[in-house]
Amino acid sequence: MIKIQHLTKRFGTHTVIDDLNLTIPEGKMTVIIGRSGEGKSLLLKQIIGLIEPTSGSIIVDNTDITRLNNRQREQHLQQFGYVFQFAALFDSLNVYQNIGITLINAGYPESYVLPIVKEKLALVCLPESTLYKYPHELSGGMAKRVGLARTLVSNPKVILYDEPTTGLDPITEQRIHELMYDLQQRFNVTSVVITHSTSLFKYADQVAFLYKGNIAYAGPAQDIWECGNPYIYQFIRGLTSGPITVE
Ligand SMILES: Nc1ncnc2c1ncn2[C@@H]1O[C@H](COP(=O)(O)OP(=O)(O)O)[C@@H](O)[C@H]1O
Ligand SMILES: [Mg+2]
Repeated sequence: MIKIQHLTKRFGTHTVIDDLNLTIPEGKMTVIIGRSGEGKSLLLKQIIGLIEPTSGSIIVDNTDITRLNNRQREQHLQQFGYVFQFAALFDSLNVYQNIGITLINAGYPESYVLPIVKEKLALVCLPESTLYKYPHELSGGMAKRVGLARTLVSNPKVILYDEPTTGLDPITEQRIHELMYDLQQRFNVTSVVITHSTSLFKYADQVAFLYKGNIAYAGPAQDIWECGNPYIYQFIRGLTSGPITVE
């Protein structure tokens, strides 16, 4: 379980995250939605320790990671994986090298790395014939799968996804959603997903709506379309009138 308590993040006088509280249950999928520029990515980056909060705490396994020094935090967050908005693959490296990069850079021989890369490739449902392809030879959906396979190399207990299906067609997006759900079910991975895609709700346990630096709503995903909250009602239907200010 991850407990975010009174989290605040300011840049100069600009407060982006303002006394935010959210509990992320273990082994479940939490979806975070909200308008562009609300601070969703910033929230994830603080959870994985890439950005330091101005104040507040982030409790992971009973430890406040904001109170740890860099080395301790890194150790504590080894169980975390992060999937970027765009697959961010290295163009000059093939799929094998892209997936195995941290192991290759750590000096492990191919005899050790290759079986691990093959196992992760199978987990994201890509054929072995993909191994020696280069990023420009991959479709958008395949590239996202490779990015996810790279994250899986460290066997993360928590995976944070930042807009993992941006730029994909609806069918490819659906297949990536199924894959994320499958990983969560099979390995009991705690998943936190930032997305604009309401079609992920059917796989989610909790939906949280970030608005004006706060969680305006957090609740079970299964009744999200019918929940009485006016903010959620307006946002997931894309309505221009309601309590959410639209410039
Ligand atoms: N390193 C930074 N320095 C200054 N401002 C930042 C920084 N990172 C994010 N911000 C600001 O925080 C706000 C939220 O950004 P972000 O988390 O990327 O939004 P979202 O992911 O919801 O679209 C933006 O207004 C952005 O300008
Ligand atoms: Mg973002």
